[in-house]
Amino acid sequence: MASALQDGFGRTIDYLRMSVTDRCDFRCVYCMAEQMTFLPRQQVLTLEELYRLAALFVGQGVRKIRLTGGEPLVRQGIVGLCRRIAALPGLRELVLTSNGSQLERLARPLAEAGVKRLNVSLDSLDPARFRAITRTGELAQVLAGIEAAQQAGFERIKLNTVVMKGRNADEVLDLVGFAVERGLDISFIEEMPLGEVGRSRDEAFCSSDEVRALIERGYALLDSAEQSGGPARYVRLRDHGQTRIGFISPHSHNFCATCNRVRLTAEGRLLLCLGHEHSLDLRGLLRRHPTEDGPVLEAIGKALLRKPQRHEFALHGEVQVLRFMNASGG
Ligand code: GTP
Ligand code: 5AD
Ligand code: SF4
Repeated sequence: MASALQDGFGRTIDYLRMSVTDRCDFRCVYCMAEQMTFLPRQQVLTLEELYRLAALFVGQGVRKIRLTGGEPLVRQGIVGLCRRIAALPGLRELVLTSNGSQLERLARPLAEAGVKRLNVSLDSLDPARFRAITRTGELAQVLAGIEAAQQAGFERIKLNTVVMKGRNADEVLDLVGFAVERGLDISFIEEMPLGEVGRSRDEAFCSSDEVRALIERGYALLDSAEQSGGPARYVRLRDHGQTRIGFISPHSHNFCATCNRVRLTAEGRLLLCLGHEHSLDLRGLLRRHPTEDGPVLEAIGKALLRKPQRHEFALHGEVQVLRFMNASGG
C-alpha cells in the first residue's frame, strides 16, 4: 500500500522518527547546554502510547521508523518496545540512532528484537577530546559498544560525526580510516542551530565542502547516484567499496524538496519539520481518545497539510528554533 499520508506540497510521508526520551547520559556541546532540565515523567509518552502511535502511523503507510532520543537506550523497556514495533505488519524497517554508551549490553538484544540498522554518534577518536565534546562520555565504552554492534549482526552500522573546527575537524581522515577498517558507513554533519547551547556555533562551523576536501587528501571519492531518501548525500571510496561516506548539509544543501518524514518528540508532539516550531499535540489527543483512533488520524491528516515547504537555518544570528536537539529527535 502506498502511504496515505501526504503533505500540502504533494510529498508522501512514509518515515517516522520517534524520540522515546529527551534524557541522555551525554551532554554533547552541539546538542545541549551544560545544565539541562528534562521533562517530568508524566509528560513523556508511555511505552503503550509510543506503540499505539507507531501502529497508527504504520497503518497509514509509514514504512520506516527510526527510534531516537535523547539517548533511546536509556529508556527502560526499550528492547520490548522495539520487538513490538518491529513486528507491525507493513513496517519495512525499524532502525535506531544511539550514542553508543549502552550498546555493549544492548546491541544483541536489539538486533534480536528486530532492529535492522544502527546509527552511532562518534565525534572523536581521542578520549580527552571525546570527553570535551560529550562532556560526560567515555570513548572506550562507545568503541566497545560499536564492536558489540558489529558482532550482533545488524544489516548496516553508520557512524555520525558533527564536524566542528577547533574540536574534531582535523580528525576527519582518521574517522574515515576507522570506518574503512571496520566496513562501516560514516556521515559528516554540519551543525544545526537548535536550542541555546551556551556557545557560539559560528566559529566552529565546518561546511560539508570543506570536509570533502579534507577527505580527498587521503582518498579518491566516487560520486554515487544512490538516493538516500534522507538528508545525506553519499559518496563511495574508490579503493574501499564497502564504506559509504555521507554528507548531511542542512546549511549548504538542504534536501527539503524530497522530505519524506515527520518526527514525534518525547512529549508526544508531532513535529512537521526539524527547522520549524509547527507541531501537533498528539499526547493530548491520545489521552482524550484512549480507545478511538479516528480523531487522532484526522488531526494527523490535517497537521500534515501544514508541513512547511523547507527549513531556513541562518548560520549567523539568533537561534530561530528554541527547542533543543535532544527534544527534537535528532
Ligand atoms: P536516515 O535518513 O534514516 O537514513 O538516517 P539519518 O542519517 O538521517 O539519521 P540520524 O538519526 O543518524 O541523523 C543524522 C543527522 O541527520 C542528524 O544530525 C539529524 O538531525 C539529521 N537529520 C535527520 N533528519 C533530518 C531532517 O529532516 N532535516 C534535517 N535538516 N536534518 C535531519
Ligand atoms: N546539529 C547537527 N547534528 C546534531 N546532532 C545532535 N545535535 C545536532 C546539531 N545541533 C546529531 C548527533 C546524532 C544525531 C541524532 O543528531 O550527532 O548523531
Ligand atoms: Fe545525547 Fe545525542 Fe544529544 Fe549527544 S547528541 S547529548 S548523545 S542526545
